Amino acid sequence: MAHLPLIIAPDPRLKKRSVPVTEVDARINRLMDDMLETMYAANGIGLAAPQVGQLLRVIVIDVSDKDAPPEPMGLANPELVWADEEQILYNEGCLSLPEQYADVVRPKAVRVRYLDRDNQLREIAGTNLLATVLQHEIDHLEGTLFVDRISLLKRNIILRRLQKLKKAGEYD
Ligand code: NI
Repeated sequence: MAHLPLIIAPDPRLKKRSVPVTEVDARINRLMDDMLETMYAANGIGLAAPQVGQLLRVIVIDVSDKDAPPEPMGLANPELVWADEEQILYNEGCLSLPEQYADVVRPKAVRVRYLDRDNQLREIAGTNLLATVLQHEIDHLEGTLFVDRISLLKRNIILRRLQKLKKAGEYD
């Protein structure tokens, strides 16, 4: 496995739409492994391929408790097939926006269809944190960041702060 460099916002590469994978083959499985390693190294709970410079519809997630055994998941072409009317608020962060957090409101429960690591079509239901992470990562595949779901004022504060840190070489 390899540790991949993370793209830090603001960056035009994070604003692009990713393309579906045609098949979950060895190459995609390797990408998922590398993304998981990168995510764990950064203490993240989700990561999308565009964050490591691959404009592919691939995400990895692990929302298991810190003290519990890891539960790594790799999803290709994830697609929201149902979302609860009830909403929930989470203080979200993102590995592409290090140490920046904001409250984001999203559906409390979702169902997502995807291709698993064996290229089998599956569905997963998630509530609370898992629902939020699934939606946050699927957003990345559309070029949407969590700051795109908060007020323009708060978004600009966060992005300007990151821009300044990037210029200072904080993330080189
Ligand atoms: Ni993110």
